[in-house]
Amino acid sequence: MSAIVADNVSRTYQLDGFEVPALRGVSLTVEAGDYVAIVGTSGSGKSTLMHLLGGLDRPTSGTLLIGGRDVSTLSPNEMAELRNTTIGFVFQSFHLLSRTTAQDNVGLPLVYRGAGRKERRARAAEMLDRVGLAHRMTHRPNQMSGGEQQRVAIARALVTGPSVLLADEPTGNLDSATGQSVLALLESLKDDGVAVVLVTHDREVAARADRQIVMKDGKIQ
Ligand SMILES: Nc1ncnc2c1ncn2[C@@H]1O[C@H](COP(=O)(O)OP(=O)(O)OP(=O)(O)O)[C@@H](O)[C@H]1O
Ligand SMILES: [Mg+2]
Repeated sequence: MSAIVADNVSRTYQLDGFEVPALRGVSLTVEAGDYVAIVGTSGSGKSTLMHLLGGLDRPTSGTLLIGGRDVSTLSPNEMAELRNTTIGFVFQSFHLLSRTTAQDNVGLPLVYRGAGRKERRARAAEMLDRVGLAHRMTHRPNQMSGGEQQRVAIARALVTGPSVLLADEPTGNLDSATGQSVLALLESLKDDGVAVVLVTHDREVAARADRQIVMKDGKIQ
């Protein structure tokens, strides 16, 4: 079974009585262990597509299967559960809780799994170690650099053991050395069968992916 199948998917936003067609008939399959880069000009629909692939939004038309399940048949609660069990999402702006330590930020998704505090902290510590932040466990986001916050966001996306990791510009805020180590981490997920889909403006980053998808005007070129 493919991790994600999008078949002729469109997404039109409604804004002040006007229709804004952000995606216009996109078809795409993501398999386990895939490493896919999405590139394209600003406004071409990359983030819109990522939100759909991550089950954060639904298509206006077309069929979208996540983990084999047709999202059009799922209630909001079922969608949330599907996201929590299948998808890790890394947002460009991190979305970390500012008053919460790195360790508790990373452990948060496990709350929805019913994991106790001790288990959450242990798994979060493991993930923070994996992204090179064992020494920043008790820091809050405002006590960390941008690159460190980015790595906390990645650790949080991975803590649930997702089958797909979606990352919108994961190296956009990093210096080249830190960016390289984050990329190496993302590439290593392949060995665990995790599919990685990332949006990037960086040609070198895109070139390292197995597959490049170029978006233009809401379509794949
Ligand atoms: N909530 C919204 N309501 C109306 N239009 C929107 C909304 N979100 C995005 N759009 C429009 O949809 C199109 C695609 O936006 P999207 O955010 O997917 O682009 P993008 O490729 O991610 O761009 P960038 O590289 O700048 O992040 C744009 O024309 C944008 O103006
Ligand atoms: Mg975007």
